[in-house]
Amino acid sequence: MCGIVGYIGQNDAKGILLNGLARLEYRGYDSAGIALLNQDGIQMTKVKGRVAVLEEKADEGISGSLGIGHTRWATHGVPSIINAHPHQSGTGRFIIVHNGVIENYEALKREYLKDVSLISDTDTEIIVQLMEKLFERFQDTRTAFCETMKLLKGSYAIAMIDAEDRNTLYVSKNKSPLLIGIGEGFHVVASDAMATLKETNRYLEIHDEEVVLLTSDTVTIQTLTGEELERESYTVELDLSDIEKGTYSHYMLKEIDEQPFVLRRIIEEYQDENNGISIDPAIRIAMQQADRIYIIAAGTSYHAGLVGKGFIEKLAGIPVEVHIASEFNYNMPILSDSPLFIFISQSGETADSRAVLVQIKKMGFPALTITNVAGSTLSREADYTLHLHAGPEIAVASTKAYTAQLAVLVLLAVDTAETKEVTLDFDPIRELAIAANAIEVLTDQKETIENLARDYLTTTPNAFFIGRSADYYVAMEGALKLKEISYIQAEGLAGGELKHGTIALIEEGTPVIALATQVYVNYSIRGNVQEVAARGANTLIISMDGLNEENDALVLPEIHELLAPLVSVIPLQLLAYYAALHRDCDVDKPRNLAKSVTVE
Ligand code: M6R
Repeated sequence: MCGIVGYIGQNDAKGILLNGLARLEYRGYDSAGIALLNQDGIQMTKVKGRVAVLEEKADEGISGSLGIGHTRWATHGVPSIINAHPHQSGTGRFIIVHNGVIENYEALKREYLKDVSLISDTDTEIIVQLMEKLFERFQDTRTAFCETMKLLKGSYAIAMIDAEDRNTLYVSKNKSPLLIGIGEGFHVVASDAMATLKETNRYLEIHDEEVVLLTSDTVTIQTLTGEELERESYTVELDLSDIEKGTYSHYMLKEIDEQPFVLRRIIEEYQDENNGISIDPAIRIAMQQADRIYIIAAGTSYHAGLVGKGFIEKLAGIPVEVHIASEFNYNMPILSDSPLFIFISQSGETADSRAVLVQIKKMGFPALTITNVAGSTLSREADYTLHLHAGPEIAVASTKAYTAQLAVLVLLAVDTAETKEVTLDFDPIRELAIAANAIEVLTDQKETIENLARDYLTTTPNAFFIGRSADYYVAMEGALKLKEISYIQAEGLAGGELKHGTIALIEEGTPVIALATQVYVNYSIRGNVQEVAARGANTLIISMDGLNEENDALVLPEIHELLAPLVSVIPLQLLAYYAALHRDCDVDKPRNLAKSVTVE
């Protein structure tokens, strides 16, 4: 959600900003803009729509070696050029880009800006107008910037230019991600290192409620009260090829195909020299001490949590509750005596999950984050982290992070069982390796799956996914994938629930996709398929070798039943991908969605 790029150095910032914004497109946005400062003053270009349009418009000869850029995902005010960032103060002296939400912007407007006529509907404009007010009072940009930050409540990542000073870029953050990139004779600022990896792989963290002043050669980090701080930089272990599409037409397809490699990498990362599981001993102790586990997550990660509950309960014997992050704080269950909270999040930045983390930390409970992004907020603020090692996931629709989440969860469950000396007839390393091979078999069947997508999903307004037991959770994930990228209204249901209401929606030709990978519900899910077929549904069964019957549309290679959700999701991801393609949708950047949802 929203992206920031900034540059200060000797070169022209325009190309760096535009390239960086293009790399942040995956986060989701609806307008974009850049501002550059040179000897003639500020030059600003903003557009509603894509960075490519901004690029065309910015071609009109603007330049400068200090600049800030932004992609905006609308929260306060519609997507428009006026509401797009950067925003400028009344006199034009201060120019700002901002990610996050200023919760007290109405109060700030009433108290400080009664006499200011605002141009946009954004909370961001309040910050820059406030900056100007406080500059009038303090006559010093650094002091006014710190004083402005002190007044803000909510989340923000901010980069600001003072048009009277071509040598300084002002930066601050609270709860929203922002990094400083360090180069020879330049500095960059970015919401995500991916944006500026071409420029540098050395980065510095900014902590909440800090102010950073950047020149071409210096970085000054200070608290809001002016105390200067030292911080070591670190190297980002990312390669440009990790974040490029290569020969693929879409990131989503590349990421679907990467899943076998991701599983093999997870095996490598979590296997010890005796072919056992290697997990941080502190996590082992936390798992052993828990009398109940609370999994907190959103979207696809929530679906992974539902499957993970089965792993932990069946293998390690610890009761698990899975909660939607945005609901938990408002509807908190009665907690057990010794709970452990597990946050599952690809991005590690989901604001809804973070709100729960903040709350449960206040209550003194331990937290483990399972995430794909080392150094992300949820990772830093939890007591422990398990990494997914899935490599950057850029398509908005999550695919490889989901299978990675399941793989890490099963390893955690088995490891916990072993430390509790439970004897298991299940070798997770072997079974994950078999699952990786099975996924490869399926990703080789793209043509078959594309044909199914064409036949079942090209023109339909709606679709249903059904399953029982673990297949039900995969059905929910299949429905989410389909709706988010193809805009087909889709629902994932427990097969047994159909006749309690939803079957009323079945008409001649309604697609119903059923999963049949679980032995003890195979008979009953097939019964549910018969019920909808009798009412005209266009049914498609995805089963597993050994449980298959004549006319099943797709038969998955046989794998351990517990791990079926890692494999049965693959055809659903591919069905969604091809359905979106055939319906001419923007697969990687679906409308209204953002990759990391950094506002509650
Ligand atoms: O980064 P997170 O895993 O915390 O994100 C949670 C959801 O926003 C995310 O899974 C979303 O549902 C995806 N677009 C699904 O494909």
